Amino acid sequence: MKTVVLKVGGRLLDEATWPTVVAEVAGLRGRGHAVVIVHGGGPEITEMSARLGLEARFVQGRRVTDPSTLAVAEMVLSGVINRRLVGGLQRQGISALGLSGRDLDLIVACRRPGLGEVGEPVHVRREVLEALLQNDWVVVLAPICSDGHGRALNVNADEVAAAVAGALEAECLLLLTDTPGVLDAAGRRLPWLTPKAFDRLVQAGIIRDGMIPKAAAAVEALARGVRRVLITGLGPVALTRQIEEGGGGTWVGADEGVGFQARGVPDHGP
Ligand SMILES: Nc1ncnc2c1ncn2[C@@H]1O[C@H](COP(=O)(O)OP(=O)(O)O)[C@@H](O)[C@H]1O
Ligand SMILES: [Mg+2]
Repeated sequence: MKTVVLKVGGRLLDEATWPTVVAEVAGLRGRGHAVVIVHGGGPEITEMSARLGLEARFVQGRRVTDPSTLAVAEMVLSGVINRRLVGGLQRQGISALGLSGRDLDLIVACRRPGLGEVGEPVHVRREVLEALLQNDWVVVLAPICSDGHGRALNVNADEVAAAVAGALEAECLLLLTDTPGVLDAAGRRLPWLTPKAFDRLVQAGIIRDGMIPKAAAAVEALARGVRRVLITGLGPVALTRQIEEGGGGTWVGADEGVGFQARGVPDHGP
């Protein structure tokens, strides 16, 4: 089974854009991939928090989460966005099962100091995910994790996706966001990113905010044995084509060009 883990950023899951995401998932299924989706929901969490008089705060792209914000995050992620995606997939005839990391302790996290109710994944129940995928179901995961004792921790969705992809030894991790990939200082898409270049670009302040945990998760996924990792956007080039032929996004690899087994490699690297 060739497994693709697809992380979808919150800005791509509003009412206007989610149908395009569903169409991309249909494309991946059409190519015979088993698909696990991990979704974000940042903008809607921020919006709902504001409605309830809670202020959103971030440290290096990670949301500071007090207990009230955790409740809002879980409500929005598991209650709204997860349901929206599952509904959209079902409507297209794709069998979708929505869960969070809390169900069956699917993803256990440990607390990340200094951010409140925020964790980082430490264990993924691979055997459960594999059993679900064997049924030909698309698994849709909200990134709220278990602390191993029945309580919730908020985890950056890119980190959840990297942990899931690592546990499944996925063929490909796709981190789908609202930019065409990792951009350089001039705003041009970098066709590839090495761990070294990642460190340099963070130091230089060119990789900032939510791109810090995203690119870090991409590098981490490689270390965990995921074969190919792509940070990319929803664009004119379908994801299946980006995987098969390249031509979009930023491939993250130990060396430039690794993972990008394709023609037409764009001509500038980081
Ligand atoms: N070098 C960079 N290249 C691309 N995006 C960057 C870069 N540095 C910071 N960003 C920001 O990171 C954002 C993506 O992360 P995030 O807001 O967490 O979205 P997502 O929901 O997809 O995780 C982009 O919208 C962009 O504003
Ligand atoms: Mg993010």
